[in-house]
Amino acid sequence: MKKGISLYSLLAAVSILFILYALAKNYWIDPGADSFLSFKTNLKRELNLPAWLNVMYIHVAFACIAMAAGLVNFSARFLLLYRKLHRVNGYLYIVSVLIVVITSGYMAPYATGGKISSMGFNLLNILWPAITITALVYIKKKQMIKHRNWMIRSYAFCFTNMLIHLIAALFHQGFGFQYPESYTIGIYGTIALLLIIPEIIIRTIGQPRITKG
Ligand code: HEM
Repeated sequence: MKKGISLYSLLAAVSILFILYALAKNYWIDPGADSFLSFKTNLKRELNLPAWLNVMYIHVAFACIAMAAGLVNFSARFLLLYRKLHRVNGYLYIVSVLIVVITSGYMAPYATGGKISSMGFNLLNILWPAITITALVYIKKKQMIKHRNWMIRSYAFCFTNMLIHLIAALFHQGFGFQYPESYTIGIYGTIALLLIIPEIIIRTIGQPRITKG
């Protein structure tokens, strides 16, 4: 049980820190995304900067809402005390996921690293809603364990941006790759990790314990 609490605490700490980082970085420190956009050199189609930035702001806002809503709903205590709120919050999570995916669909054609990166994002755009809706279907069928497992799989996608940047930084700064190539490697590395890590959590420590908040 203690292990379960520490797993949830770890998840909460990482999620909250990343939300604060994402908000500070994108609305305050670098609201024009200048450093990120400087790597978009040979785009096939012209980027409408004000539109792209507005879409990115919406994207980040709902990504953070999804991350927070998902985190709250993994708390067993919250579920026990506020069952109705868990439902409302769950729908907030789903709507947020859909908005993140729709905004991602707008940004994907201009992705750093070109067509291969765009394809990776489009794969994410299909996988994340599909997995999330699967979790919803299972709770409608009152299958709690399956609902929880599919939500673990879905929530992993909230770490997409964090993982892409960690892997890209490793390849760019660590191994000396060009940034666009590092970013593409980051996208595909992230997709692999997003599919593998939840399975490990579900099969080993995560089963009944991840929900002990
Ligand atoms: C849930 C956590 C997420 C956060 C906080 C987040 C945040 C961001 C931010 C700040 C950017 C601007 C560029 C950068 O710094 O990378 C961005 C770009 C982008 N994001 Fe997300 N994102 C998240 C999840 C996702 C997911 C799950 C997808 C796909 C389903 C996605 C698709 C995209 C795309 C396509 C771009 C444009 C990339 C480019 O121009 O190269 N994001 N995101």
